[in-house]
Amino acid sequence: MNRSINVIFVMIALSALVVSSACSRDKSKPGREFMADTDMYRNPKVKTYEASNLFSDGTSARLPEEGTVPRGYTTYNKPNTNEAYFASLEKKGYPDIAPKKNEANLKEGERLYIRFCNNCHGVKGDGNGNLVEQGKFAGVPTYDSQRLPDITPQSIFHVITHGKGVMGSHAAQIQSADRWRIVQYVLSLRAELDGVEVEDDQVEDEAVSEDDSEETEG
Ligand code: HEC
Repeated sequence: MNRSINVIFVMIALSALVVSSACSRDKSKPGREFMADTDMYRNPKVKTYEASNLFSDGTSARLPEEGTVPRGYTTYNKPNTNEAYFASLEKKGYPDIAPKKNEANLKEGERLYIRFCNNCHGVKGDGNGNLVEQGKFAGVPTYDSQRLPDITPQSIFHVITHGKGVMGSHAAQIQSADRWRIVQYVLSLRAELDGVEVEDDQVEDEAVSEDDSEETEG
């Protein structure tokens, strides 16, 4: 009886010794590891922004290839010129890449409109936003068809992308699909101002031609 208690005691003491021998005083070091191949769970890697002599510039962070675009990003290559603006007035309907017109997209368009456009254009789209009322901006048009007879979905998209006059470009803040959602909402405000139904033929499938999708902009 006594003997077996002694044996158990010695075994406990020995295993405590083995376990504690793995400890390291330096908390940032792993200490001794009882694993044959430590690469299995502590694999060699470069930590974010760690210096590295693997590359000539001494940093481990690499730039993406030139022309890399984020996932889900669509390109718009119409330049910020009067010609491109006038051409957009001639194009009727939405291109294929625009999100389809439905309740959810219209609601999202409204949310984004309130965030990005409302201050100048006003909740109703009549050009009486906060900044206009405070006298900070002038010349903000109402969206109705008397004031802007020729605007089309594509021209509105063009203007959101590049800006016009004192209105700045919103390409950096609003991704392409969301700009189309705002276009849908602007046209619903326009219909309300005009006192008409939103035209049904506004969703036309006009495919973006091949040469329209080459360069990267906005
Ligand atoms: C800083 C104020 C300001 C903001 C913010 C602003 N706009 Fe404008 N917007 C203007 C002004 C000013 C004009 C008139 C530009 C001109 O014709 O010189 C204009 C013109 C327009 C036009 C008519 C363009 C045409 O073809 O004549 C549309 C459509 C439009 N804005 C939509 C938007 C939308 C959508 C947003 C939000 C994404 C927005 N604007 C944000 C000030 C603003």
